Amino acid sequence: MDKLVDSGKTKQLFQTKDKNVLKVHYTNHTTAGDGKRNEQIENKGAVNNQISSLIFQYLNKFDIPNHFIEQTSNTDQLNKKVNMIPLEVVVRNLSSGHFQKRFGTNNLQQLSKPVVEFFMKNDELHDPMVNDLDVQALNIANEHQLSKMRDLALKINIALINLFKEINITLVDFKVEFGIDESNHIILADEISPDSCRLIDTDTKESLDKDVFRKNEGNMMKGYYKVLHKLQKELA
Ligand code: TYD
Repeated sequence: MDKLVDSGKTKQLFQTKDKNVLKVHYTNHTTAGDGKRNEQIENKGAVNNQISSLIFQYLNKFDIPNHFIEQTSNTDQLNKKVNMIPLEVVVRNLSSGHFQKRFGTNNLQQLSKPVVEFFMKNDELHDPMVNDLDVQALNIANEHQLSKMRDLALKINIALINLFKEINITLVDFKVEFGIDESNHIILADEISPDSCRLIDTDTKESLDKDVFRKNEGNMMKGYYKVLHKLQKELA
């Protein structure tokens, strides 16, 4: 039995024989409201593990360094062990969620250029938004690391916009997290899935992501399966 080394809201991390490699198990836990709502949704772990594996492999083609090694089962993957930087890096193409509330824009209004925002990972403080100077003053990351994360986030955005466009899905916004590897390089870590992206069907504007759960609008998995099946077909 592998030893559990850490457990997040939706994933469990296990030690492997290689000290630089973790086995990541995607669970069915689905959370909203800083983890206050936490439900089990059948097959969500397996679907997100498969979606995130496909996306990370796709990002390799664009020289985006990331922690993905290989998918080992429906629910599990091997990842490089990194020191996670406790920031959520959000990229937005269309206005939605916090951005829409903050600026009173229309929902799904196209932004003139992509926006990158940083939030400190802290549920008790409800993940406060931070600027570059906050991040440096709090010793979360230095100026060079911030600039690297911003550049990578925008590069990931371009690759993902194009990928989703091919399958008639609009990438509204998404969140990524970065870690520092053993060579002190910043690499993409965590996951990219409908839990961490806003994705809409370009024609029908149907939500294909966790917004369906956040807003209690019925069976969230319908959209998740649609995203998985379209990505499988596109990237086969
Ligand atoms: P945002 O509009 O900031 O917050 P909310 O989802 O609470 O309205 O979210 C922007 C994108 O980032 C969206 O695709 C969801 C994702 N995200 C996460 O995956 N985890 C988080 O903790 C937050 C705040 C956002």
